[in-house]
Amino acid sequence: MIRDQYVLVKDLLSRKDDPSADGMSVRVRGWVKTNRGNAHVGFLTLSDGSCFENIQIVYNMDEHPELAPAAKISTGSSVDVTGRFILTPEARQPFEVQAEKVELLGDCDSDYPMQKKHHSLEFLREVPHLRPRTNTFNALFRVRSVLCGAIHEFFQTNGFLYITPPLITGNDAEGAGEVFTVTTGEGKETDFFGKKACLTVSGQLHVEPFALAYDRVYTFGPTFRAENSNTTTHASEFWMVEPEIAFADLEDDMACMEAMVKYCITKVLERCPSEMAFFNQMFDPEHRLIERLTAVANSEFKVMTYSEAIELLKASGREFQYPVEWGVDLKTEHERYICEEVVQGPVFLIDYPKDIKAFYMRLNDDGKTVAACDCLVPGVGELIGGSQREERYENLVARMKELGIEQEPLQWYCDLRRFGSVKHAGFGLGLERFILYLTNIGNIRDTIPYARTPRNLIF
Ligand code: 4AD
Ligand code: MG
Repeated sequence: MIRDQYVLVKDLLSRKDDPSADGMSVRVRGWVKTNRGNAHVGFLTLSDGSCFENIQIVYNMDEHPELAPAAKISTGSSVDVTGRFILTPEARQPFEVQAEKVELLGDCDSDYPMQKKHHSLEFLREVPHLRPRTNTFNALFRVRSVLCGAIHEFFQTNGFLYITPPLITGNDAEGAGEVFTVTTGEGKETDFFGKKACLTVSGQLHVEPFALAYDRVYTFGPTFRAENSNTTTHASEFWMVEPEIAFADLEDDMACMEAMVKYCITKVLERCPSEMAFFNQMFDPEHRLIERLTAVANSEFKVMTYSEAIELLKASGREFQYPVEWGVDLKTEHERYICEEVVQGPVFLIDYPKDIKAFYMRLNDDGKTVAACDCLVPGVGELIGGSQREERYENLVARMKELGIEQEPLQWYCDLRRFGSVKHAGFGLGLERFILYLTNIGNIRDTIPYARTPRNLIF
């Protein structure tokens, strides 16, 4: 593709053990990460974005006096380099490019903020247009991309149809009222849609009709929540994967969650070895991230009821910030205790009290709990939320009435229960939380190109 005369660093890396490549003529381009040296010889570290690794360009000013201006090239500049690919098996890096020509494409002003070797993640959040050039975010966005590919691959190869629900919607799917309103600022009747409109908090309600036509479907796109929670795991705009499966119950749903999580872990480890080695080294104090993920990919996830979890939390002797009692919604501190201290790995919590869950979840025979499931993982807490859906018209309508949810705007949704209803189930996995789990990077603001959180919107 339009690269003819240029070679990618990625392709050079693949030749690092190939003696027949030694001495070949190459032309590369990219951005300078460092430039150091002495009066005779200089070294440029170059990243071309084709892979996580950089390459070293050597410019020997004794042999090539015309290369002397290269010594003035500053960090951040873009360059076009012609030279020879030389294997250097005894050196720290397996090869280098010995420059014959170095052309400066775009100079970099001295106030470039990425001069120093190390910047805090907090500082880098202030420069979202430049942080992609750092090692950390190079690794992060590569993992994110590979993960997105793996998610699509998992569903596509398992017969799921990709459905794209609207982002502007007339309903609040979760019924939690945490919606952003979409308006052109006109009055009630004259406003753009002539009715209340908001950004979607979940594609679920819009995708259920498709499951009841195509059996297996999934959505994968941005969702928006106006929750005023300032935590390391909540964003106001995040991506969610939402499969919906007809003829499925909660067990089938959990089997799908588990298979998907394991598939994605395996693919990311396989396809991002350098990136994952980097996270393992830099973001896990014990350097056991890869080992843990590998074990999870080969394990069987535990299942525990909400009621069992409550008993364990009460017996823990821990002073939680939010006290625990049957019926309370679990907070991250509780979820993390269960998966980190008790299970020490991913766990499914099932059968939550109906009063803390959404209206569409299927009522269990006990009349108190619903066929819901959260998948909790260490370091994050809730990674996935899912449920079997209430497929019985009367039950659904009764539940909506109990909760004071207006039926008329959701009559279409209820009607699915009158027109060939079947049991069905689905779930939502937060992409950014999955990235937190895979990389250990620690804060959701560092898992998405431009983070949106309360009182924070840069660019
Ligand atoms: O548990 P939630 O709210 O479930 C739903 O929205 C269902 N409609 C999903 C479904 O069954 N189709 O959200 C699902 C997941 C959570 O488990 C979490 O991973 C993620 O979405 N999530 C967030 N991620 C980042 N920031 C937030 N504010 C999030 N809220 C939820
Ligand atoms: Mg949830």
